[in-house]
Amino acid sequence: MTTSTSSGPAFLATPRCDTTQAWRDLQSYFETQGRHFDVRQALQAEPQRFAQMAIEAPHVRADFSRNLLDASTLQLLNALAQQCQLQASIDALFSGLPLNTTEGRAAWHVLLRCPPGFAPEHPAMAQALMNVQASQDAFLSYAEQVRLDESITDVVNIGIGGSDLGPAVVVQALEAYRTAGKRIHFVSNMDGDDLGLTLRGLDPARTLFLVASKSFGTAETMVNAQVARAWLLAAHGYVLPEAQQQGVQPLPDDVPDALRALLSRRFVAMTSNAQAANAFGITTIFPFADWVGGRFSLWSSIGLSIAIAIGTQHFRALLTGAHAMDQHFRTTPVARNLPVQLALLDIWYRNFHGFPTRCIAPYSHGLRRLPAYLQQLEMESNGKGCDWNGDPITLATAPVIWGEAGTNCQHAFFQLIHQGPQVIPVEFIVLREHGLGTAAQHRALQANAVAQARALTFGKHDGPAYKHCPGNRPSTMLVLDRLDPASVGALIALYEHRTFVAGRLWGINSFDQWGVELGKSLAKEILAAHQPDEAAAQDVMRWLR
Ligand code: F6P
Repeated sequence: MTTSTSSGPAFLATPRCDTTQAWRDLQSYFETQGRHFDVRQALQAEPQRFAQMAIEAPHVRADFSRNLLDASTLQLLNALAQQCQLQASIDALFSGLPLNTTEGRAAWHVLLRCPPGFAPEHPAMAQALMNVQASQDAFLSYAEQVRLDESITDVVNIGIGGSDLGPAVVVQALEAYRTAGKRIHFVSNMDGDDLGLTLRGLDPARTLFLVASKSFGTAETMVNAQVARAWLLAAHGYVLPEAQQQGVQPLPDDVPDALRALLSRRFVAMTSNAQAANAFGITTIFPFADWVGGRFSLWSSIGLSIAIAIGTQHFRALLTGAHAMDQHFRTTPVARNLPVQLALLDIWYRNFHGFPTRCIAPYSHGLRRLPAYLQQLEMESNGKGCDWNGDPITLATAPVIWGEAGTNCQHAFFQLIHQGPQVIPVEFIVLREHGLGTAAQHRALQANAVAQARALTFGKHDGPAYKHCPGNRPSTMLVLDRLDPASVGALIALYEHRTFVAGRLWGINSFDQWGVELGKSLAKEILAAHQPDEAAAQDVMRWLR
């Protein structure tokens, strides 16, 4: 995919939400009616509300009935999607148009989830799909080798952002599917304690490192990979000099062949920059296309740690679940399209009600890191103030995403959500079936999620004032049948598409992250100016100037 600029022929400039008639209609409806909506009354007055406001998508069912929405609002939001020509954006995503205009790339992660035998509509897609499937076969067959190799007990994924969070959240969610005998670790932080504490319990002879980095240049990943490489070589008596420069440190020429061979057995890279990985001393490289965005990359070879943890069959089931959600997104009319409806709700809350944050509360221990994953997905994608024409966006864009697993969240911050003066929409995620616990434990867990949702909706108005809960606080309930690979794949794809839709409506390129670059380059400059001034680093006050 090559076409480059926002003015290029393949760029799709659909109307921005705030330029449409539907937007103006929403504004006046909000002023006169919407802001006064009372969900308690609606639930009592509309016995059909639950049935009417439930949406079924593959592996995920959503109940919107506790939201601050009436039929007119929904109609206007759906009109907004039509007037923003959302379907054209969805088609563009699936046909690999370069929607990532600032980097001149497509965002074609949906291609990574097409099942074998899938017949693409576009000839370009057919070729790209053949390449995708060849590289998928390669990393999956490597994963199977590792799974069979009893000498490897520990696998350490070194990566950050999308090269860490996606695989980490899936491996954790699918812990019940992990093969016994293989521990999977994730190291991301530049703080040496992250890698240091991980290595402390590991045996160099039984550890495999996966260096996950699209660019193979991200500072944190390079530093951690270098320290891990030095650790492995040191175990065999070769002391690598500590890196004094930033970036990829090529393997010194005097490293003996036997150690080079060892390194290439114990280090693997998943990257779009094979050359840099090679210079580092890695020979087993699983490349992926540059149209795979970092936070959409767990489906590519970046997901190797997942494949090692759960095996090819379950990895394919993860893809199948995501593909089912892709098909739902691509073909379902707006009013029943779950990612679209969630994104429209985001617009309603963020831009009309003005709610600045959204809380994610998965009532599932396995999904406890989902909020962290969604922080990157939504905030790195849509936390922007400039549209695809380079014009400022004066509207609020991505809300702050935060959260914690239930029931822990109830004993931490739910107090504020129930009685604090600000309104925070909550997204509950619950599972129909239980995992390792007993049926009774699971019923209690579900009861707690439902209790929180009811408390938010209805509040409490009797007794002394300090016991009052205002109620009329919005929440959405997402229900998965169980925590299995297909459901997890579908859930993540759901959030990806919701993020894309919200971005398109706001006029945002959801696939770049230029704001992150400034801090990265300043850190490089600061480090270069002080290096290797250990004393300055220790004297924090001097360092901070
Ligand atoms: O945080 C910025 C970012 O570029 C993310 O988008 C990306 O997921 C992460 O850094 C890691 O990048 P890489 O895979 O190139 O190391």
